[in-house]
Amino acid sequence: MELDYHPELQGLTVRRPQLKLLQDVPFPAWVADNWETVKTFQARPDDLLIATYPKSGTTWIQEIVDLINENGDVKMCKRAPVYERIPFFEFFLDPLPTGIELIDKMASPRMMKTHLPIQLVPKSFWEQDCKTILVARNAKDCLVSYFHFHRMTESMPEPGTWSEFLQKFMKGRVSWGSWYDHVKGWWEAKDKHRILFLFYEDIKENPRREILKMAKFMEKVLEQDVIEKIVHHSSFDVMKDNPMANYTTIPTGFMDQNISRFMRKGEVGDWKNHFTVSQNEDFDEHYARQMVHSSLKFRNVL
Ligand code: A3P
Repeated sequence: MELDYHPELQGLTVRRPQLKLLQDVPFPAWVADNWETVKTFQARPDDLLIATYPKSGTTWIQEIVDLINENGDVKMCKRAPVYERIPFFEFFLDPLPTGIELIDKMASPRMMKTHLPIQLVPKSFWEQDCKTILVARNAKDCLVSYFHFHRMTESMPEPGTWSEFLQKFMKGRVSWGSWYDHVKGWWEAKDKHRILFLFYEDIKENPRREILKMAKFMEKVLEQDVIEKIVHHSSFDVMKDNPMANYTTIPTGFMDQNISRFMRKGEVGDWKNHFTVSQNEDFDEHYARQMVHSSLKFRNVL
């Protein structure tokens, strides 16, 4: 399955990290140990940030944003794997290049992805009034996707069993912390900064409509045929077979797609195949308590 993209990385193996707290939010040690570098990053006014809680469709948005930026030029968007075209800001896993090293080499306008909760985004992004595309996905599908992701990548701590992981997720004791705090934090900030707040479920429902929102936010005008091309090339079925989008360029010692594919299902409602009735009841009750004071509403949660 692996490609020859970086032959020098073929034998790469990664050891599962511990979680470490940063301002009470758990992170893989490889993020926490490099925090000074993250915190002091100097943003530029035309930097575009793609922000998500993990497994909310980040890669999907990265592909769409790159396609918009390249005016639907599919060949251009196959110039490198998605994690190099739109680097992962807080990524520090030896011997791979760090996110910031890749970003430093980019010409403006630069695009990058982050999973940071809003309160930990380096202040220079706000001083420079940068734009952010935020994508949120319903908690249950996010959790299911995160569980399978933990199984297949050594860059995350051991997930334990499904029911153990479910408990950890509800308590926010997973990498990048509480889903609830993450989405509520960004939701509250959305009118204070230049933030386009999108939902995974909306993009699934009508990708064209949401792609147009993103293009408008990026101040790009797209011809009709370009829009159709972007819809097609960012669809799950096309992305899952695109080595420049599906992470098969990453060695199996880091991500083992024989355990679970990175492009796993790409559906809304797969949680129904994982939760027991009683897990679902507990989750709903806990969810209602966590979200009671927020005006943020998700579809397809129940
Ligand atoms: P599943 O595990 O539910 O399949 P991220 O990029 O934030 O890590 O999110 C990964 C999730 O987004 C995975 O969810 C993946 O399949 C899904 N995904 C990736 N590309 C997609 C696309 N084009 N359409 C729908 N879902 C997509």
